[in-house]
Amino acid sequence: MALQKQPGLPSCLRTVRYNQAVMTRDEILLAHRQFLFPSVFHYYKTPLVVARARDQYVFDADGNQYLDFFGGIVTISAGHCNPKVNRAVHEQIDRLEHVSTVFATEPQAALAARLARISPQGRLTKSFFTNSGTEANETAIVTARCYTGASEIVALRHSYHGRSALAMTLTGHSNWRLGGVSQPGVVHAHNAYCYRCPFGLTYPDCEVRCARDVEELIRTTTSGRIAAFIAEPIQGVGGFITPPPEYFRIVEEIVRRYGGLFISDEVQTAWGRTGGKWFGIEHYGVTPDILTSAKGLANGLPIAVTLARPEVADSLKGATISTFGGNPVAATAARAVLDFIEEEDLRANAAETGAFLRARLEELQEKHPLIGEVRGMGLLQALELVRDRGTQEPATPETLELMEATRENRILVGRGGLYGNVIRISPPLNIGKADVDEFIRRLDASFARCHAALAAR
Ligand SMILES: Cc1ncc(COP(=O)(O)O)c(C=O)c1O
Repeated sequence: MALQKQPGLPSCLRTVRYNQAVMTRDEILLAHRQFLFPSVFHYYKTPLVVARARDQYVFDADGNQYLDFFGGIVTISAGHCNPKVNRAVHEQIDRLEHVSTVFATEPQAALAARLARISPQGRLTKSFFTNSGTEANETAIVTARCYTGASEIVALRHSYHGRSALAMTLTGHSNWRLGGVSQPGVVHAHNAYCYRCPFGLTYPDCEVRCARDVEELIRTTTSGRIAAFIAEPIQGVGGFITPPPEYFRIVEEIVRRYGGLFISDEVQTAWGRTGGKWFGIEHYGVTPDILTSAKGLANGLPIAVTLARPEVADSLKGATISTFGGNPVAATAARAVLDFIEEEDLRANAAETGAFLRARLEELQEKHPLIGEVRGMGLLQALELVRDRGTQEPATPETLELMEATRENRILVGRGGLYGNVIRISPPLNIGKADVDEFIRRLDASFARCHAALAAR
């Protein structure tokens, strides 16, 4: 058992046993407050201290069990601490843990070959591995600029692309753009937010005006030669905003006419999450030139990938390193996750159980006027909460109250949207209908509790 003496630290931290909890819940919260940047924010009035997890369940420091329908922000695709994935990880970590990308390793090579096979239309056959979605997007933008020789990028409002200076600039969501950063050469188009249409129109009579407006944006705010368009097939942090079926095909045609590449940011929507397909963009009949992903690929181990058409990848000339990119342990975990998804047919489960979840959420919508819209695809579903369905005033304080109530009812969900009024639901891909029924029962009880708390104010 590893034991370290660390004099000089507060008493609760002096002795660290790595395989056994030694800090109390309150000591953990205190250390978080004292030693972490305050920008490391948490859900709930008092942060939830998580001690362990298994399958679809998470356990807090007091031993309470929660049904996890958020999956560590859309990351737990194969269930927590999946035994098959973890067995592969254990074997790999004892064989080869790290050498960096300046050496070739089997886990990285095998994963790249596997991704080439499942990439959209089998066309994005080259991979660049990094550790986070942010880095994958950085790589995508640099590559698009090298390939096209142009520099301007069209991104979408309400998008989220990460936390580096460039990724924050790409992000069209002011809550996540810190430090007043803004790099030149990025413009933001209206997104396909049908529930709050930026043009005040209604689909389908709108003829997808937001997609056609991309041309006007390019002609009026860029040099007329762009490097790329980047978008999430379903905007994750934005609140699972799901464009209509023809949206991306219209945008793709415009983008290509102005010389740009199409980058699909699939940090949340890949690996079967949207049901039936490996990638979210495949539902829209568009084959991107570059696709980025991370999160669910290795079920919680840090790995990200930028996939590109070979000629696009080949344009990134000169050497570049990601020290931990394609790390053998994370790459092995990723392959084991992909195996698990294939063996258990989880893309089909995401479609079928996702449809079941969607229907049950729509039943809740009939019961609770707070639910303005239910949207999403597969096992990526959201509820947008409004004070009044007519005015669509965002129900932000009510959403915070509901979050507290879900905690009381021992379910985990996420929160998002520009106004923080969207409940995000993204359980592991291997949940069943009985889990959905239990989740809905507890969510229903949470709405009741939330109404009671609001009425008592
Ligand atoms: C669509 C999207 N892109 C990029 C990122 C950034 O990923 P990371 O947090 O791994 O840097 C996120 C993270 O939530 C995301 O949802």
